[in-house]
Amino acid sequence: MENGGHILIVDDEAQIRRLIRRILERCGYRTDEVENGRQALEFLQSEPVDLVVTDLRMPDVDGLELLERCRALYPNTDVIMLTGFGTIQTAVYAMRQGALDYMTKPFSAAELQDKVAHCFRQRQRRAAQRSPIEPLLELNRILSRPIDPSKISQAVIRLIERTFAPVHTQLTLFGSGRVGRRGREDGAFLPDRPEGAIVDVAGDEVDTAAGGPVLTVPLRVGDEEVGVLTLLRWRNEPPFSPEDSRLLHLFAGQIALVFLHADTRQRLWDAFRDLERAYLSPVQTLIDALGLHDAYTRDHSQRVAHYARLLGQRCGLPDDDVERLGIAGLLHDVGKFGIGDGTLRKAGSLTHDELDHVRRHPVMGVRILEGIDALHDIVPMVWHHHERYDGKGYPDGLAGEDIPLGARILAVVDAYDSMTSDRSYRPALSVKEATKRLLAGAGSQLDGRLVTEWIAVMDKGSAELEIAGSAEEGRALHE
Ligand SMILES: [Fe+2]
Repeated sequence: MENGGHILIVDDEAQIRRLIRRILERCGYRTDEVENGRQALEFLQSEPVDLVVTDLRMPDVDGLELLERCRALYPNTDVIMLTGFGTIQTAVYAMRQGALDYMTKPFSAAELQDKVAHCFRQRQRRAAQRSPIEPLLELNRILSRPIDPSKISQAVIRLIERTFAPVHTQLTLFGSGRVGRRGREDGAFLPDRPEGAIVDVAGDEVDTAAGGPVLTVPLRVGDEEVGVLTLLRWRNEPPFSPEDSRLLHLFAGQIALVFLHADTRQRLWDAFRDLERAYLSPVQTLIDALGLHDAYTRDHSQRVAHYARLLGQRCGLPDDDVERLGIAGLLHDVGKFGIGDGTLRKAGSLTHDELDHVRRHPVMGVRILEGIDALHDIVPMVWHHHERYDGKGYPDGLAGEDIPLGARILAVVDAYDSMTSDRSYRPALSVKEATKRLLAGAGSQLDGRLVTEWIAVMDKGSAELEIAGSAEEGRALHE
């Protein structure tokens, strides 16, 4: 690859960078330039190169540190050091650190061309003698990590780029619709080849209209083809060798095994999501029905669900419990189905009988929910959400920590939302006033620790508390 190789020039002097670029581009190399070692490392993260020509003394990350990082992170990238302080000690040190060569400024165009050409001849020799063991071990390390398939794809593609030096790499997976792709230039991936055609030529080395060498290998386990790997080089780069092809087939066998299992995992996950939807559909039906009956209760329930999840997270509850809290929040007042419109929307005070009726709504709610097996865990939260911490609540008069934690959480956020919503008999209270009243009820009506945590949630920012839904007028039932 004497011509057509990719070189990154790193120097804090723009004039020198331009001069080096001109010399190297005249020889047919592709070049890029950056000002310092930090920018060089950022560049290499997104686009590996064959050779880095770097100044020694630069601010921030200097040439020696860049060399060290290249050796560790990009072993297939060579480094030539440039310096205006060319002592023999520095040269020896840089070579010991793994620099391929070393040049002192000022240097001639011929000297630079010779050094770079020598570098690319050495690369060719190394490629011819390359052992497949190192890249295969690296591949094995990537594939054995417990990370999701898309991250595995990206890690595999980066390894392929370091090992085979393609200009574009595509890893296409069949069957599940997952396709990982990455080119060294955004959007430039094999535009003339539809994916179906790539499947048809799997395993063969073919030319494309782009003109560069292409290597395509199927990802196959037994008779099952799970995808295809396609590599493309620039038009003026050497073709992939038979050794490249053999090594890529070894890669493909390993990758196919992992993605076959990933596909199985995806199918199981899809099945789980279907089950989850089936589980939640009665909840949605109930919420929709409740909305038809009483829009305020529906909107209030949605806010309570949101707040309950926030408070549950704040208390460090596991994700499953936070989800259950959300469902309980949505359904905590479902028992209001049993309360007539006249009572729900009454503007004046309730009679003793009406109040009694209203106070039965937790029990009525549980009557509705207890027939649904999937909502078994939600029932205690709905049943007890009007208990008071001092034992003066309903329906059972439980006190303190005898009240289920989920019900105590619902009580706090239910009270907060009731106070900060417009009602038929009074406008919404300010957050400040509602906070004052929550604190007044801490330890008597409400669990004081949870009130403190809820205030902390509110202090984090009001934006987090906002959810869709309007506060339509309805009858107050929670104060
Ligand atoms: Fe309620």
